[in-house]
Amino acid sequence: MRSYKAKSVTSIQLPPRERRETVLTEAGHNVFNLAADDVFIDLLTDSGTGAMSDDQWAAVVRGDEAYAGSRSFKRFRETVADVMGFDRVVPTHQGRGAENVLFGALLDDGDVVLNNTHFDTTRAHVTNQGAIAADCPAETDLTTDTVGTFAGNFSTDRGWDAVEEHGQDAVSAVVLTITNNSAAGQPVSMANIRETAAFATEIDATFVIDACRFAENAQFIKQRDPEYADTPLSEIAREQLRPADAITMSGKKDALANIGGFTAVRDAALFEQCKQRAILYEGFPTYGGLAGRDLEAMATGLREAVQPPYVAERIEQVATLGDLLRDRDIPIVTPTGGHAVYIDAAALFPDIPADQYPGQRLVCELYREGGVRTVELGSFAFPGTNRPELVRLALPRRTYWHEHLEHIAETAARVRDRRDEYSGLEIVWEPPMEELRHFSAELEPVA
Ligand code: F0G
Repeated sequence: MRSYKAKSVTSIQLPPRERRETVLTEAGHNVFNLAADDVFIDLLTDSGTGAMSDDQWAAVVRGDEAYAGSRSFKRFRETVADVMGFDRVVPTHQGRGAENVLFGALLDDGDVVLNNTHFDTTRAHVTNQGAIAADCPAETDLTTDTVGTFAGNFSTDRGWDAVEEHGQDAVSAVVLTITNNSAAGQPVSMANIRETAAFATEIDATFVIDACRFAENAQFIKQRDPEYADTPLSEIAREQLRPADAITMSGKKDALANIGGFTAVRDAALFEQCKQRAILYEGFPTYGGLAGRDLEAMATGLREAVQPPYVAERIEQVATLGDLLRDRDIPIVTPTGGHAVYIDAAALFPDIPADQYPGQRLVCELYREGGVRTVELGSFAFPGTNRPELVRLALPRRTYWHEHLEHIAETAARVRDRRDEYSGLEIVWEPPMEELRHFSAELEPVA
Protein backbone atom coordinates (compact mmCIF):
# COMPACT_ATOMS: atom_id res chain seq x y z
CA MET A 1 0.00 0.00 0.00
CA ARG A 2 1.24 3.53 -0.76
CA SER A 3 2.25 5.63 2.22
CA TYR A 4 0.83 8.82 0.68
CA LYS A 5 -2.44 10.11 -0.68
CA ALA A 6 -3.29 12.49 -3.49
CA LYS A 7 -4.21 16.09 -2.81
CA SER A 8 -3.79 17.59 -6.24
CA VAL A 9 -4.48 15.56 -9.38
CA THR A 10 -4.19 15.88 -13.15
CA SER A 11 -6.95 14.56 -15.44
CA ILE A 12 -5.98 12.01 -18.05
CA GLN A 13 -8.12 10.32 -20.63
CA LEU A 14 -7.80 7.60 -23.20
CA PRO A 15 -8.51 9.17 -26.60
CA PRO A 16 -10.83 7.14 -28.87
CA ARG A 17 -9.14 4.50 -30.97
CA GLU A 18 -9.60 6.43 -34.25
CA ARG A 19 -7.91 9.46 -32.70
CA ARG A 20 -4.98 7.29 -31.56
CA GLU A 21 -4.68 5.84 -35.07
CA THR A 22 -4.70 9.30 -36.65
CA VAL A 23 -2.20 10.95 -34.32
CA LEU A 24 0.16 7.97 -34.47
CA THR A 25 0.27 8.25 -38.25
CA GLU A 26 0.64 12.04 -38.07
CA ALA A 27 3.50 11.53 -35.57
CA GLY A 28 5.34 9.40 -38.13
CA HIS A 29 5.10 6.36 -35.84
CA ASN A 30 7.29 8.18 -33.36
CA VAL A 31 5.67 8.77 -29.97
CA PHE A 32 8.05 11.66 -29.16
CA ASN A 33 5.98 13.57 -31.73
CA LEU A 34 2.69 13.01 -29.88
CA ALA A 35 1.01 15.73 -27.83
CA ALA A 36 0.93 14.67 -24.17
CA ASP A 37 -2.83 15.26 -24.17
CA ASP A 38 -3.16 12.35 -26.58
CA VAL A 39 -1.36 10.04 -24.15
CA PHE A 40 -3.25 8.14 -21.45
CA ILE A 41 -0.40 6.65 -19.43
CA ASP A 42 2.99 8.24 -20.02
CA LEU A 43 5.93 5.90 -19.42
CA LEU A 44 8.30 7.75 -21.77
CA THR A 45 10.61 8.63 -18.89
CA ASP A 46 10.94 8.86 -15.13
CA SER A 47 12.78 12.16 -15.55
CA GLY A 48 11.08 15.22 -14.08
CA THR A 49 7.65 13.63 -14.49
CA GLY A 50 6.99 12.55 -10.90
CA ALA A 51 4.67 14.09 -8.33
CA MET A 52 6.17 16.53 -5.84
CA SER A 53 5.14 16.40 -2.19
CA ASP A 54 3.29 19.14 -0.31
CA ASP A 55 6.58 19.87 1.49
CA GLN A 56 8.29 20.40 -1.85
CA TRP A 57 5.55 22.76 -3.02
CA ALA A 58 5.77 24.63 0.26
CA ALA A 59 9.52 24.94 -0.28
CA VAL A 60 8.88 26.28 -3.78
CA VAL A 61 6.98 29.20 -2.27
CA ARG A 62 9.92 29.88 0.07
CA GLY A 63 12.34 30.08 -2.87
CA ASP A 64 14.74 33.00 -2.53
CA GLU A 65 15.37 34.44 -5.97
CA ALA A 66 18.53 36.42 -5.19
CA TYR A 67 20.99 36.21 -8.08
CA ALA A 68 23.95 35.45 -5.83
CA GLY A 69 24.21 33.73 -2.47
CA SER A 70 20.50 33.04 -2.03
CA ARG A 71 19.08 31.44 1.09
CA SER A 72 17.76 28.65 -1.16
CA PHE A 73 21.28 27.89 -2.37
CA LYS A 74 22.51 27.68 1.22
CA ARG A 75 19.77 25.22 2.06
CA PHE A 76 20.46 23.22 -1.10
CA ARG A 77 24.21 23.09 -0.40
CA GLU A 78 23.65 21.95 3.18
CA THR A 79 21.28 19.22 2.00
CA VAL A 80 23.71 17.87 -0.59
CA ALA A 81 26.38 17.77 2.13
CA ASP A 82 24.04 15.95 4.52
CA VAL A 83 22.41 13.50 2.14
CA MET A 84 25.27 12.86 -0.29
CA GLY A 85 28.40 13.81 1.67
CA PHE A 86 29.76 16.48 -0.73
CA ASP A 87 30.50 20.04 0.45
CA ARG A 88 31.41 21.52 -2.91
CA VAL A 89 28.39 21.63 -5.18
CA VAL A 90 27.59 23.48 -8.39
CA PRO A 91 23.90 23.50 -9.40
CA THR A 92 23.00 23.11 -13.08
CA HIS A 93 19.79 23.21 -15.11
CA GLN A 94 19.65 19.39 -15.27
CA GLY A 95 21.88 16.30 -15.34
CA ARG A 96 23.43 16.92 -18.74
CA GLY A 97 24.38 20.43 -17.65
CA ALA A 98 26.30 18.81 -14.79
CA GLU A 99 28.02 16.50 -17.28
CA ASN A 100 29.04 19.45 -19.43
CA VAL A 101 30.40 21.41 -16.46
CA LEU A 102 32.35 18.50 -14.96
CA PHE A 103 33.63 16.77 -18.09
CA GLY A 104 34.72 20.06 -19.60
CA ALA A 105 36.85 20.63 -16.51
CA LEU A 106 38.16 17.05 -16.30
CA LEU A 107 38.78 15.91 -19.87
CA ASP A 108 41.23 16.75 -22.62
CA ASP A 109 41.24 15.82 -26.27
CA GLY A 110 42.01 12.13 -26.74
CA ASP A 111 41.29 11.14 -23.12
CA VAL A 112 39.37 7.94 -22.45
CA VAL A 113 36.45 7.62 -20.03
CA LEU A 114 35.32 4.23 -18.77
CA ASN A 115 31.79 3.65 -17.48
CA ASN A 116 29.77 0.57 -16.54
CA THR A 117 27.47 1.82 -19.32
CA HIS A 118 27.39 5.41 -20.52
CA PHE A 119 23.93 6.94 -20.60
CA ASP A 120 23.36 8.72 -23.97
CA THR A 121 23.91 12.28 -22.72
CA THR A 122 26.98 11.18 -20.75
CA ARG A 123 28.47 9.58 -23.84
CA ALA A 124 27.62 12.68 -25.88
CA HIS A 125 29.32 15.01 -23.38
CA VAL A 126 32.43 12.83 -23.18
CA THR A 127 32.61 12.78 -26.98
CA ASN A 128 31.92 16.50 -27.14
CA GLN A 129 35.12 17.10 -25.14
CA GLY A 130 37.08 15.16 -27.77
CA ALA A 131 37.37 12.16 -25.44
CA ILE A 132 36.51 8.50 -26.06
CA ALA A 133 33.68 6.84 -24.12
CA ALA A 134 34.20 3.11 -23.47
CA ASP A 135 31.69 0.84 -21.72
CA CYS A 136 32.83 -1.85 -19.28
CA PRO A 137 29.64 -3.61 -18.16
CA ALA A 138 29.97 -6.73 -16.03
CA GLU A 139 26.82 -8.15 -17.62
CA THR A 140 26.75 -7.81 -21.38
CA ASP A 141 23.80 -9.93 -22.25
CA LEU A 142 20.73 -8.71 -20.43
CA THR A 143 17.87 -10.95 -21.38
CA THR A 144 14.57 -12.21 -20.17
CA ASP A 145 16.35 -14.56 -17.81
CA THR A 146 19.21 -12.43 -16.62
CA VAL A 147 20.02 -13.55 -13.15
CA GLY A 148 22.30 -11.68 -10.90
CA THR A 149 21.57 -9.52 -7.97
CA PHE A 150 23.74 -6.63 -9.17
CA ALA A 151 23.63 -6.86 -12.95
CA GLY A 152 24.56 -3.18 -13.36
CA ASN A 153 28.13 -3.64 -12.09
CA PHE A 154 31.34 -2.35 -13.67
CA SER A 155 33.78 -4.99 -14.89
CA THR A 156 37.33 -4.16 -13.77
CA ASP A 157 38.54 -6.95 -16.10
CA ARG A 158 37.15 -4.98 -19.01
CA GLY A 159 38.57 -1.86 -17.40
CA TRP A 160 42.06 -3.38 -17.46
CA ASP A 161 41.53 -4.42 -21.09
CA ALA A 162 40.71 -0.79 -21.90
CA VAL A 163 43.80 0.41 -20.01
CA GLU A 164 45.89 -1.99 -22.07
CA GLU A 165 44.25 -0.84 -25.30
CA HIS A 166 44.46 2.92 -24.74
CA GLY A 167 47.35 3.23 -22.28
CA GLN A 168 46.99 4.13 -18.61
CA ASP A 169 47.76 7.81 -19.09
CA ALA A 170 44.86 8.20 -21.50
CA VAL A 171 42.21 6.92 -19.10
CA SER A 172 41.48 10.04 -17.11
CA ALA A 173 38.10 9.20 -15.58
CA VAL A 174 36.17 6.15 -14.47
CA VAL A 175 32.42 6.63 -14.11
CA LEU A 176 29.96 4.41 -12.32
CA THR A 177 26.30 4.94 -13.23
CA ILE A 178 24.04 3.92 -10.33
CA THR A 179 21.60 2.41 -11.11
CA ASN A 180 22.72 1.51 -14.61
CA ASN A 181 20.02 3.06 -16.79
CA SER A 182 21.36 1.73 -20.09
CA ALA A 183 21.57 -1.76 -18.58
CA ALA A 184 17.86 -2.03 -17.80
CA GLY A 185 18.13 0.02 -14.61
CA GLN A 186 20.07 -2.73 -12.85
CA PRO A 187 21.81 -1.89 -9.57
CA VAL A 188 25.50 -1.75 -8.67
CA SER A 189 26.73 -3.43 -5.48
CA MET A 190 28.63 -1.70 -2.68
CA ALA A 191 31.51 -4.15 -3.25
CA ASN A 192 31.62 -3.17 -6.93
CA ILE A 193 31.60 0.54 -6.05
CA ARG A 194 34.66 -0.05 -3.83
CA GLU A 195 36.37 -2.27 -6.38
CA THR A 196 35.82 0.30 -9.15
CA ALA A 197 37.07 3.11 -6.89
CA ALA A 198 40.23 1.10 -6.12
CA PHE A 199 40.72 0.45 -9.84
CA ALA A 200 40.40 4.17 -10.60
CA THR A 201 42.90 5.01 -7.86
CA GLU A 202 45.34 2.41 -9.17
CA ILE A 203 45.30 3.89 -12.66
CA ASP A 204 45.31 7.45 -11.29
CA ALA A 205 41.93 8.35 -12.83
CA THR A 206 39.21 10.54 -11.34
CA PHE A 207 36.39 8.40 -9.95
CA VAL A 208 32.97 9.84 -10.81
CA ILE A 209 29.56 8.49 -9.81
CA ASP A 210 26.54 9.34 -11.96
CA ALA A 211 24.20 9.46 -8.99
CA CYS A 212 20.88 10.16 -10.78
CA ARG A 213 19.21 7.15 -9.16
CA PHE A 214 21.38 6.83 -6.04
CA ALA A 215 18.44 6.30 -3.68
CA GLU A 216 17.05 3.46 -5.80
CA ASN A 217 20.50 1.87 -5.92
CA ALA A 218 20.81 2.18 -2.13
CA GLN A 219 17.49 0.39 -1.71
CA PHE A 220 18.70 -2.56 -3.81
CA ILE A 221 21.85 -2.77 -1.66
CA LYS A 222 19.68 -2.82 1.45
CA GLN A 223 17.48 -5.57 -0.01
CA ARG A 224 20.11 -7.74 -1.62
CA ASP A 225 23.32 -7.38 0.40
CA PRO A 226 22.85 -9.03 3.82
CA GLU A 227 25.62 -6.85 5.24
CA TYR A 228 23.37 -3.79 4.81
CA ALA A 229 20.01 -5.27 5.74
CA ASP A 230 19.93 -3.34 9.01
CA THR A 231 21.70 -0.18 7.88
CA PRO A 232 19.42 2.87 7.46
CA LEU A 233 18.84 3.69 3.81
CA SER A 234 20.17 7.23 4.21
CA GLU A 235 23.49 5.83 5.48
CA ILE A 236 23.78 3.39 2.58
CA ALA A 237 22.99 6.22 0.18
CA ARG A 238 25.85 8.30 1.58
CA GLU A 239 28.28 5.41 1.91
CA GLN A 240 27.87 4.53 -1.78
CA LEU A 241 29.09 8.00 -2.75
CA ARG A 242 31.97 8.21 -0.24
CA PRO A 243 34.67 6.79 -2.54
CA ALA A 244 33.78 9.17 -5.40
CA ASP A 245 35.95 12.16 -6.30
CA ALA A 246 32.95 13.74 -8.01
CA ILE A 247 29.30 13.09 -8.76
CA THR A 248 26.91 14.22 -11.46
CA MET A 249 23.23 14.34 -10.65
CA SER A 250 19.94 14.88 -12.40
CA GLY A 251 17.51 16.38 -9.90
CA LYS A 252 14.72 15.10 -12.16
CA LYS A 253 15.26 11.57 -10.87
CA ASP A 254 16.15 10.92 -7.23
CA ALA A 255 15.81 14.53 -6.12
CA LEU A 256 12.11 14.11 -6.96
CA ALA A 257 11.98 17.48 -8.72
CA ASN A 258 10.65 18.53 -12.12
CA ILE A 259 13.88 20.24 -13.13
CA GLY A 260 17.44 20.67 -11.86
CA GLY A 261 20.77 18.97 -11.48
CA PHE A 262 24.24 19.46 -10.06
CA THR A 263 27.80 18.30 -9.94
CA ALA A 264 29.68 18.01 -6.66
CA VAL A 265 33.40 17.47 -6.21
CA ARG A 266 35.97 16.93 -3.43
CA ASP A 267 38.92 18.83 -4.86
CA ALA A 268 39.11 22.61 -4.37
CA ALA A 269 40.86 23.31 -7.67
CA LEU A 270 38.39 21.18 -9.65
CA PHE A 271 35.56 22.98 -7.83
CA GLU A 272 36.91 26.33 -8.97
CA GLN A 273 37.12 25.10 -12.57
CA CYS A 274 33.56 23.79 -12.40
CA LYS A 275 32.31 27.12 -11.05
CA GLN A 276 33.96 28.98 -13.91
CA ARG A 277 32.38 26.64 -16.45
CA ALA A 278 29.04 27.01 -14.70
CA ILE A 279 29.21 30.79 -15.12
CA LEU A 280 29.79 30.26 -18.83
CA TYR A 281 27.14 27.61 -19.50
CA GLU A 282 24.63 27.51 -16.65
CA GLY A 283 24.56 30.65 -14.55
CA PHE A 284 26.20 32.10 -11.47
CA PRO A 285 27.34 29.11 -9.36
CA THR A 286 24.80 29.71 -6.61
CA TYR A 287 21.85 29.23 -8.98
CA GLY A 288 23.19 27.32 -12.01
CA GLY A 289 20.41 28.08 -14.47
CA LEU A 290 17.69 27.38 -11.93
CA ALA A 291 15.27 29.53 -10.00
CA GLY A 292 15.77 29.57 -6.23
CA ARG A 293 12.47 27.71 -5.97
CA ASP A 294 13.90 24.84 -8.04
CA LEU A 295 16.83 24.55 -5.62
CA GLU A 296 14.31 24.34 -2.79
CA ALA A 297 12.32 21.60 -4.53
CA MET A 298 15.51 19.58 -5.10
CA ALA A 299 16.72 20.06 -1.53
CA THR A 300 13.44 18.84 -0.05
CA GLY A 301 13.17 16.03 -2.61
CA LEU A 302 16.69 14.75 -1.89
CA ARG A 303 15.79 14.20 1.74
CA GLU A 304 12.49 12.50 0.87
CA ALA A 305 14.21 10.16 -1.58
CA VAL A 306 16.22 8.48 1.18
CA GLN A 307 13.40 8.51 3.71
CA PRO A 308 11.67 5.14 4.11
CA PRO A 309 9.26 3.86 2.99
CA TYR A 310 9.27 5.97 -0.20
CA VAL A 311 11.95 4.19 -2.20
CA ALA A 312 11.03 0.66 -1.07
CA GLU A 313 7.52 1.30 -2.40
CA ARG A 314 8.92 2.66 -5.64
CA ILE A 315 11.11 -0.37 -6.34
CA GLU A 316 8.20 -2.59 -5.40
CA GLN A 317 5.85 -0.80 -7.80
CA VAL A 318 8.27 -1.40 -10.68
CA ALA A 319 8.53 -5.07 -9.68
CA THR A 320 4.72 -5.32 -9.56
CA LEU A 321 4.43 -3.98 -13.10
CA GLY A 322 7.00 -6.60 -14.11
CA ASP A 323 4.97 -9.35 -12.44
CA LEU A 324 1.74 -8.23 -14.11
CA LEU A 325 3.46 -8.36 -17.51
CA ARG A 326 5.08 -11.72 -16.86
CA ASP A 327 1.74 -13.16 -15.76
CA ARG A 328 0.58 -12.32 -19.29
CA ASP A 329 3.59 -13.95 -20.96
CA ILE A 330 5.27 -10.69 -21.92
CA PRO A 331 9.05 -11.28 -22.06
CA ILE A 332 10.79 -8.76 -19.78
CA VAL A 333 14.32 -8.36 -18.47
CA THR A 334 14.42 -9.86 -14.98
CA PRO A 335 14.91 -9.12 -12.22
CA THR A 336 13.31 -5.72 -12.82
CA GLY A 337 15.52 -2.68 -12.20
CA GLY A 338 14.88 0.49 -10.27
CA HIS A 339 12.90 2.84 -12.44
CA ALA A 340 11.51 0.86 -15.34
CA VAL A 341 10.49 -2.46 -16.82
CA TYR A 342 12.17 -3.42 -20.09
CA ILE A 343 10.29 -5.61 -22.60
CA ASP A 344 12.34 -7.76 -24.97
CA ALA A 345 10.65 -6.84 -28.27
CA ALA A 346 12.74 -9.31 -30.29
CA ALA A 347 11.35 -12.15 -28.17
CA LEU A 348 7.80 -10.79 -28.44
CA PHE A 349 7.95 -10.22 -32.22
CA PRO A 350 10.37 -12.91 -33.46
CA ASP A 351 9.27 -12.39 -37.08
CA ILE A 352 10.28 -8.72 -37.27
CA PRO A 353 14.00 -8.41 -38.08
CA ALA A 354 16.20 -5.94 -36.18
CA ASP A 355 16.52 -3.66 -39.22
CA GLN A 356 12.74 -3.27 -39.18
CA TYR A 357 12.71 -2.09 -35.56
CA PRO A 358 10.61 -4.60 -33.59
CA GLY A 359 10.98 -2.37 -30.52
CA GLN A 360 9.55 0.66 -32.27
CA ARG A 361 6.67 -1.45 -33.58
CA LEU A 362 5.94 -2.47 -30.00
CA VAL A 363 6.08 1.18 -28.86
CA CYS A 364 3.52 2.05 -31.58
CA GLU A 365 1.20 -0.83 -30.71
CA LEU A 366 1.24 -0.12 -26.96
CA TYR A 367 0.07 3.37 -27.84
CA ARG A 368 -2.48 2.23 -30.43
CA GLU A 369 -3.98 -0.43 -28.14
CA GLY A 370 -4.04 1.45 -24.86
CA GLY A 371 -2.71 4.99 -25.17
CA VAL A 372 0.46 3.93 -23.31
CA ARG A 373 3.60 5.87 -24.29
CA THR A 374 6.93 4.05 -23.90
CA VAL A 375 10.37 4.35 -25.49
CA GLU A 376 12.42 2.13 -27.77
CA LEU A 377 16.00 1.50 -26.62
CA GLY A 378 17.17 -0.88 -29.33
CA SER A 379 18.40 -0.57 -32.91
CA PHE A 380 16.23 2.47 -33.62
CA ALA A 381 17.63 4.51 -30.70
CA PHE A 382 21.17 3.12 -30.90
CA PRO A 383 22.01 2.55 -34.57
CA GLY A 384 24.90 0.20 -35.27
CA THR A 385 25.43 -0.90 -31.68
CA ASN A 386 23.97 -4.39 -31.68
CA ARG A 387 22.00 -3.75 -28.51
CA PRO A 388 19.08 -5.97 -27.50
CA GLU A 389 15.70 -4.80 -28.85
CA LEU A 390 14.37 -3.40 -25.59
CA VAL A 391 11.38 -1.18 -24.95
CA ARG A 392 11.45 0.75 -21.67
CA LEU A 393 8.37 1.35 -19.53
CA ALA A 394 9.66 3.98 -17.09
CA LEU A 395 7.45 4.71 -14.10
CA PRO A 396 7.28 8.33 -12.98
CA ARG A 397 7.70 8.62 -9.20
CA ARG A 398 4.58 8.69 -6.97
CA THR A 399 2.35 9.19 -10.02
CA TYR A 400 0.40 6.11 -11.10
CA TRP A 401 -1.78 3.67 -9.14
CA HIS A 402 -2.25 -0.07 -9.33
CA GLU A 403 -5.19 0.25 -11.77
CA HIS A 404 -2.89 2.04 -14.19
CA LEU A 405 -0.40 -0.81 -13.97
CA GLU A 406 -3.18 -3.27 -14.76
CA HIS A 407 -4.20 -1.23 -17.78
CA ILE A 408 -0.59 -1.27 -19.01
CA ALA A 409 -0.34 -5.04 -18.60
CA GLU A 410 -3.72 -5.63 -20.28
CA THR A 411 -2.65 -3.40 -23.16
CA ALA A 412 0.55 -5.41 -23.59
CA ALA A 413 -1.46 -8.64 -23.52
CA ARG A 414 -3.70 -7.37 -26.35
CA VAL A 415 -0.63 -6.46 -28.38
CA ARG A 416 0.79 -9.93 -27.77
CA ASP A 417 -2.48 -11.52 -28.95
CA ARG A 418 -2.27 -9.61 -32.24
CA ARG A 419 1.45 -10.09 -32.80
CA ASP A 420 0.99 -11.92 -36.12
CA GLU A 421 -0.70 -8.86 -37.63
CA TYR A 422 2.30 -6.57 -37.31
CA SER A 423 4.90 -5.82 -39.95
CA GLY A 424 8.21 -4.05 -39.32
CA LEU A 425 8.84 -0.33 -39.80
CA GLU A 426 11.16 1.66 -42.03
CA ILE A 427 12.58 5.13 -41.51
CA VAL A 428 11.28 7.65 -44.06
CA TRP A 429 12.91 10.76 -42.59
CA GLU A 430 15.74 11.24 -40.13
CA PRO A 431 17.77 14.15 -38.73
CA PRO A 432 21.45 14.64 -39.64
CA MET A 433 22.77 13.25 -36.31
CA GLU A 434 22.02 9.55 -36.39
CA GLU A 435 22.60 9.19 -32.61
CA LEU A 436 19.69 11.55 -31.96
CA ARG A 437 17.34 10.10 -34.53
CA HIS A 438 14.91 8.36 -32.19
CA PHE A 439 13.76 11.74 -30.85
CA SER A 440 12.44 12.95 -34.19
CA ALA A 441 12.78 10.45 -37.08
CA GLU A 442 9.60 9.40 -38.90
CA LEU A 443 8.73 5.85 -39.87
CA GLU A 444 6.18 3.93 -41.90
CA PRO A 445 5.10 0.31 -41.86
CA VAL A 446 7.06 -1.88 -44.27
CA ALA A 447 4.78 -2.76 -47.17
N1 F0G B 1 22.59 10.11 -16.44
C1 F0G B 1 21.64 9.15 -16.42
C2 F0G B 1 21.97 7.79 -15.91
C3 F0G B 1 20.35 9.44 -16.89
O1 F0G B 1 19.42 8.49 -16.88
C4 F0G B 1 20.06 10.74 -17.37
C5 F0G B 1 18.74 11.07 -17.91
C6 F0G B 1 21.08 11.70 -17.36
C7 F0G B 1 22.33 11.35 -16.88
C8 F0G B 1 20.85 13.11 -17.84
O2 F0G B 1 20.03 13.81 -16.96
O3 F0G B 1 17.97 14.31 -18.29
O4 F0G B 1 18.55 15.61 -16.23
O5 F0G B 1 19.86 15.90 -18.30
N2 F0G B 1 17.86 10.21 -18.21
C9 F0G B 1 16.51 10.44 -18.67
C10 F0G B 1 15.88 9.13 -19.08
C11 F0G B 1 16.38 11.49 -19.73
O6 F0G B 1 14.78 9.15 -19.65
O7 F0G B 1 16.46 8.08 -18.83
P1 F0G B 1 19.04 14.96 -17.48
